[in-house]
Formats: sequence, C-alpha cells, structure tokens
Amino acid sequence: MTPPFITFEGPEGAGKSTQLARLAARLAEAGVPHLVTREPGGTPLGTRVREVLLDPALSIDPLPEFLLYSASRAQLVAHVIRPALARGEVVVCDRYADSSLAYQGFGRGLGAAFLADLTREVTGGLVPDLTVLLDLDPAVGLSRAASRGAPDRLERADLGFHTRVRGGFLTLAARDPARFLVLDATRDVDALAGDIWRAVEERL
Ligand SMILES: Nc1ncnc2c1ncn2[C@@H]1O[C@H](COP(=O)(O)OP(=O)(O)OP(=O)(O)O)[C@@H](O)[C@H]1O
Ligand SMILES: [Mg+2]
Repeated sequence: MTPPFITFEGPEGAGKSTQLARLAARLAEAGVPHLVTREPGGTPLGTRVREVLLDPALSIDPLPEFLLYSASRAQLVAHVIRPALARGEVVVCDRYADSSLAYQGFGRGLGAAFLADLTREVTGGLVPDLTVLLDLDPAVGLSRAASRGAPDRLERADLGFHTRVRGGFLTLAARDPARFLVLDATRDVDALAGDIWRAVEERL
C-alpha cells in the first residue's frame, strides 16, 4: 500500500509551517518514515523559482505566475514526491496544487478549467490523500506573517485578493470533503496539532 501524501494549505500566516513541523515531529516519534517538502521549492530548480516568485521587486502577471508555480511543482512531483512515496515514505508538503487554484484561480481570476487541466499534466494526476486547510481571516494571517519581517511579493497584495483566496480554499474544500480537513486556525497550536494527528493516523 502506498503511504499517504499529505498537504497543508491556507492563507499567509495561517500556521501551515508550524503545524507541518509538529506533524513531522509526531511522525518521527512514531517511527514512521516520512519526507517533508514545500512549494514552491523542494528541488534545485524549485528553490530558484521560489526566489523569483517571492521577490517583492518583481511584477509578475497571473499567467506566468501560474506557469512558474507549475514548473516548480512538476519538478517536485517527479523528482521528490513520487520517489519518496515509492520508497514507502509518508510525504508532507507545505502548499501544493490547491494553492494555485486558490491564488491564481480565485485570487487572480485565471480560468479554473485551464488551471485544472494543466495541473493534471504537471502532477501526472497526483492528488493528496489528506489536505489540511488552516482557515483564517486574511487580516489576522497577514499581521501574524508581518511579525516575521519584510513582506514578500504575495504578502504585499491587497486584502481583497487575500479574501478571494480564502474563499477559494473554502470552495475547494467544500467540493472535496473526503480529502480536506478544514480547521479554524485561530485555535491553539496544540489543539490543532492533535486534530491533525488523528486525521493522519487514520490514513497510516
Ligand atoms: N494557532 C496559532 N495561534 C496563534 N499564532 C500562531 C498559530 N499558529 C502559528 N502561529 C504564529 O503565526 C505566525 C505564522 O505561522 P506560520 O509561519 O506557521 O504560518 P504559515 O501558514 O506557514 O505562513 P506562510 O504562509 O507565510 O508560510 C508565526 O509567528 C506562528 O508562531
Ligand atoms: Mg510557511
């Protein structure tokens, strides 16, 4: 049996990286072989693409923005995620294709059918077994993220954009309730980690 592919999604500052680290620690404690990665990034190409995508000095139109994320994703799926699953490792990824659908689709207004078609090609149809959606008012998330330092290119987008992104994630989750675990990201870190661990254990 192939181990589960788990993704963390949600707006800026929702606590994805925090919860991902907690989950990785639980998996390590339980002796479960696993691999942690992130988007954009996770490969030498992806790391370079990430620098471009987050650079506040660059203006990037919606279509090239989506294509850059897709380039990073294609490389990550082929060279990191699929090989790890084939080795029997649980894969945990900080953001994945749902972020493109939410940000470039709902947020920037690119056509959903085109995004879905290209994403299927890019991922070879690899869909997560579990997607943890940390849902949060974008104003709260951006202020959490701001406490970390200078905002990146996406954190500088307007609140209307981030509100559409949040709505996009919730729409995606409503369409696929068996895959998504939607959590209120204002809850306590330990309580969230407990809920996430229970959902992961069910899939191990
Ligand atoms: N449940 C929580 N309650 C309050 N603060 C939290 C919670 N989870 C995380 N934080 C804090 O919010 C900030 C952002 O958390 P984190 O970096 O994990 O979010 P993220 O979703 O990965 O953000 P980004 O989208 O920017 O990568 C951090 O300072 C973190 O300590
Ligand atoms: Mg993060």
